[in-house]
Amino acid sequence: MPVRAVVFDAYGTLFDVYALASTAERFYPGAGSALAQLWRSKQIEYTQLRTMCCMYKPFWEVTQDALVFSCRKLGLALNIEAQNALMGEYARLPVFPECEQVLQQLRAMPLSLAILSNGTTPMLQSALEAAGLRSYFHHVLSADSVQKYKTAPEVYQMGPDVLGLAARDILFVSANGWDACGAGWFGYTTFWVNRQQAPAEELGVLPQGTGNSLQDVVNFLSSNL
Ligand code: LAC
Repeated sequence: MPVRAVVFDAYGTLFDVYALASTAERFYPGAGSALAQLWRSKQIEYTQLRTMCCMYKPFWEVTQDALVFSCRKLGLALNIEAQNALMGEYARLPVFPECEQVLQQLRAMPLSLAILSNGTTPMLQSALEAAGLRSYFHHVLSADSVQKYKTAPEVYQMGPDVLGLAARDILFVSANGWDACGAGWFGYTTFWVNRQQAPAEELGVLPQGTGNSLQDVVNFLSSNL
């Protein structure tokens, strides 16, 4: 399996979206974690619904819509200060602690590195700049270019197109089980960073590699280059 490039999902894989819970907790004591969880699952649900029904709108707006819904559902008053603070976090989300060291190790290998995310280009660029990670990636690809979200094949197709490689020669890394399945269906070699010790999705497709953190991607690649 000659892997020649690694394509990362962004949110949940490199960036810790659940870190939003601490900002949410400041505004809504006792409900920060519930809000972060519901917000994330609604955000993904809305991307999938919008793609199924050809009703695309950019990830920033979808994220905001999901926040509005989640607050309403949890009975939390969303004032403009809370909304700006929570949305603003998306521009500077923390990365997982092992992230930069792993990227350094991967850059020392004969690999192209890219991001392929539902996020808009400005969202991704500002989060990468804030984390000091921009220079590690040869390409930052946004679903906004095709106006559809994962798991639409058109989104996954951007990887092979931009890298000039067959999907099977690209390792697609995601901490989102559904995303690893979508990428696997598309034809990528996939690695699922199973941070939450979740059971595998029952979708008839399994990742070629799994681990608990991005460090396990390096171990996997060391035996697949
Ligand atoms: C992304 C979402 C799925 O970055 O986490 O594409």
